[in-house]
Amino acid sequence: METRIMLPQADLPTQWYNIQADLGRPCPPPLHPVTKQICTPADLAPIFGMELLKQEVSQDRWIDIPEELQDIYRLWRPTPMQRARRLEKLLDTPAKIYFKNESVSPAGSHKPNSAVAQVYYNKQQGIKRLTTETGAGQWGSSLAMACNLFGLECVIYMVKCSYNQKPYRRILMETWQGKVIPSPSPFTASGRKILAENPDHPGTLGVAISEAVEDALSREDTRYTLGSVLNHVILHQTIIGLEAKKQMELAGDYPDVVIGCVGGGSNFSGFAFPFLQDKLTGKQTKTRFVAVEPAACPTMTRGKYTWDYGDTAKSGAPIAKMHTLGHTFVPDAIHAGGLRYHGNSPLLSLILDMGLVEPKAYNQKACFEAAVQFARTECILPAPESSHALRAAVDEALRCKAEGRAETIVFNLSGHGHFDLNAYESYLTGKMEDVPFDDAKLQAALNQCPEVDSNLCGGF
Ligand SMILES: Cc1ncc(COP(=O)(O)O)c(C=O)c1O
Repeated sequence: METRIMLPQADLPTQWYNIQADLGRPCPPPLHPVTKQICTPADLAPIFGMELLKQEVSQDRWIDIPEELQDIYRLWRPTPMQRARRLEKLLDTPAKIYFKNESVSPAGSHKPNSAVAQVYYNKQQGIKRLTTETGAGQWGSSLAMACNLFGLECVIYMVKCSYNQKPYRRILMETWQGKVIPSPSPFTASGRKILAENPDHPGTLGVAISEAVEDALSREDTRYTLGSVLNHVILHQTIIGLEAKKQMELAGDYPDVVIGCVGGGSNFSGFAFPFLQDKLTGKQTKTRFVAVEPAACPTMTRGKYTWDYGDTAKSGAPIAKMHTLGHTFVPDAIHAGGLRYHGNSPLLSLILDMGLVEPKAYNQKACFEAAVQFARTECILPAPESSHALRAAVDEALRCKAEGRAETIVFNLSGHGHFDLNAYESYLTGKMEDVPFDDAKLQAALNQCPEVDSNLCGGF
């Protein structure tokens, strides 16, 4: 009875998959935050590495993974696909549950898949220093690890509530020679402005992005990197789904349901898009795609598909068309710090708008209930973010039980929760709470979305 479906290292994918080639609808472009016109390469070049900008707009279906990067991927890839037989037994379901285990990477999540690529291309361009934001600390750790491998300086603005909740993530980043700054910080104009309004601001990904972009724009030798949301990040993450497809083939199975959690959309999209290609090209029509978010930050289920700023302080990050709660929305400080982003990937938002993906939201206690069940059956402690995907997988398995259907459910375990033990303690001691969602707060933030002239933004 096979539990881990392993792909030989020789079968590591050598190209990433770009879904834009198969969508039939263009992804709305980013807009300049001041002029509100479509960003030119010259607008974005001081922020992002050039090769990454090329990938951002590429319509090529397949993009080669440089050999040097393939060698680095082989440090932990291919990651296992696992069958969760013990969980199936506990749930007494006829469904088959598989999970792609991205928690085995050195940083503990899917995030290094893009970090190593972004650092590689920036280094090729001669960039010496990279800035970024991090919520849960997974992306910051991944970028610090990648910068350390390639010899670049790394500055990480870490959302303050996560910085306080997760000192060990900070130490991991520092071990890989990253400089970690709690955000909002007094070191940038956007941080100082937010601190003047509210010295106890818990920080958000939107605020940390503002600080990291401002820092990058202030120096010639520095670029900014984003751990999610953008097309090129999703592109790098498709290595997950490409491996997963080969592994399902080895298992002689194909998913009825593909599930992932969504913060900015990169692990869900990277996992799901290679399977979605089969649907778009008519090869497999039965599969459902379920994208899961926290009820405290319900971008997909309660947000609006409209133009909004990517960062809170409007300090240089572009405006994007996406599902958003409004750039001033401050989600409650739930434990899944990596899912607390007000917006979403424009590409995933478009695909949601096309009706190809079903969004779903869960409160954190329900997610931790599933996470503890998983830890006690499969022995792996999921990251709080990943527990959202797991919860949905469990609910799908319970639906299969009620309906007597032996469906194949495949979810992405985006990371482990070894640095999230205070969250587990809070759950295990009965202290964890679900905060009711404040609709008035949402409406107030949505009112802050910018007005965009459709003639200037290409008619989207
Ligand atoms: C383990 C884990 N899963 C998921 C996410 C959400 O990000 P994304 O939607 O880009 O995959 C994060 C973000 O920090 C994370 O750390």
